[in-house]
Amino acid sequence: MYLQLPLLLYLLASVAPSDAGLFTRSSEHVLRGVNAAHHHAVKRSSGLAKDLRRALSGILVAEGDSGAQHVYCISGTSLTNPDTSPGGGGSSGSSPKASGTATASASSPSGTVASSPWKVKQSYEGDSFFDGWSFFTASDPTDGTVQYVDQSTAQSANLTSINSAGNAIMRVDTTAKISGNRQSVRITTNYNYTGALVILDSVHMPTGCGTWPAFWSNGPNWPAGGEIDIVEGVNTYTNNQATIHTNPGCTIPSSNSTVLGITGDVTGGTNCAAAETGNAGCGIRSTSNTSYGAGFNEIGGGVYAMEWVDSGISVWFFPRSSIPSDITAGAPQPSGWGTPMANWPSTDCNPSTFFYQHSAIFDTTLCGQWAGNVWSDTGSPGQSQSCAQITGTSTCAEYVQNNGAAFADAYWEVKSVKIYQTS
Ligand SMILES: *[C@@H]1O[C@H](CO)[C@@H](O)[C@H](O)[C@H]1NC(C)=O
Ligand SMILES: *[C@@H]1O[C@H](CO)[C@@H](O)[C@H](O)[C@H]1NC(C)=O
Ligand SMILES: *[C@@H]1O[C@H](CO)[C@@H](O)[C@H](O)[C@H]1NC(C)=O
Ligand SMILES: *[C@@H]1O[C@H](CO)[C@@H](O)[C@H](O)[C@H]1NC(C)=O
Repeated sequence: MYLQLPLLLYLLASVAPSDAGLFTRSSEHVLRGVNAAHHHAVKRSSGLAKDLRRALSGILVAEGDSGAQHVYCISGTSLTNPDTSPGGGGSSGSSPKASGTATASASSPSGTVASSPWKVKQSYEGDSFFDGWSFFTASDPTDGTVQYVDQSTAQSANLTSINSAGNAIMRVDTTAKISGNRQSVRITTNYNYTGALVILDSVHMPTGCGTWPAFWSNGPNWPAGGEIDIVEGVNTYTNNQATIHTNPGCTIPSSNSTVLGITGDVTGGTNCAAAETGNAGCGIRSTSNTSYGAGFNEIGGGVYAMEWVDSGISVWFFPRSSIPSDITAGAPQPSGWGTPMANWPSTDCNPSTFFYQHSAIFDTTLCGQWAGNVWSDTGSPGQSQSCAQITGTSTCAEYVQNNGAAFADAYWEVKSVKIYQTS
């Protein structure tokens, strides 16, 4: 639901602290808090953070863009959903082998790539892609019109598979009409890392009205362990947004891309602290319309790389046609990759203080607190018409329930996820 601007400071003063309190609860509630805050963060970074900045600098919003003046209310119901830790679910198998470089180096021009300080620790690819992940089966904490299924259900319903190219598929159910929630998949690595270079090579990602896919990571005890959103967006967006969410004390030094040394644009504020910003986090949006959604899929996708080192956290996107050869060779050299899309430097946010023990997560939810709440909005890249206009359906949930065939493109096709570390 929407609240109007006059309630903004009320939200700031009263709601954020109660959210913060949630995250101090016992461990079985942590993931609930993580996800609640995660959706708060992403939906807020699409509008609220900008409004907060205006309000806090004493400027009343006078512009006529009603979409920009919407403030999403924090949903108490989402915070009381029954929830369990995906990491606590049944084991989905043994850890994947850490020898994924064999395949990659076989296709590289041997001898042309310098050695890398990064050693592959976990490689998820090919027939064993789904080994080493836990399937999350609780209610969607972001209130999506979605039901996450366990591994055997996903396999028998063909929501997960390995295709003839050897790539992992994670689909949304396309049954024509359903009455409740549409089936989907959400998986979390059993492995966790403190400092890493995470490299996702994806051919296709979910897109279309109603979809809200993400590839992201978080640590325990949210927001103390931090959260790093690498790939995220909704509906027919074409530009990716990467975001971090932290404990108080983490900021970015500027909202100016030149000063930050990034190719993306800061979408909201510069304070990344969840509890101090209504969970807005520090979001950075790509200027490339091939970085997400239909644009990404049209070019055969590409590689996302997230480097988490002492000097900060960075995200790069490489379209399929310009993936650095050192990545293909399994010997990544981030120092040669040029300006990242996003960077949160340690000068103002020391990773060793704000991030630890992250697991990587894929999910595809539908509607809910971001995709659903912006159903009637326009103005984001790729979204010149609203989904209400595009679909002729007034609510996201109604569309999802009655148009299974529309979700044929709501799938991930992933060549590999590799987690590199230096020791
Ligand atoms: C399962 O899904 C894959 C990928 O979406 C598809 O190629 C294949 O035909 C499906 N198999 C069945 C039996 O439906
Ligand atoms: C991360 O992995 C270590 C080593 O296996 C383990 O002790 C720790 O509990 C894990 N942390 C989380 C949050 O899963
Ligand atoms: C961003 O910083 C650069 C370098 O300091 C400066 O030239 C430019 O005007 C700034 N841009 C904005 C919008 O302030
Ligand atoms: C991306 O932007 C270019 C240039 O504006 C445009 O021609 C193209 O259609 C856009 N692609 C998508 C997928 O929106």
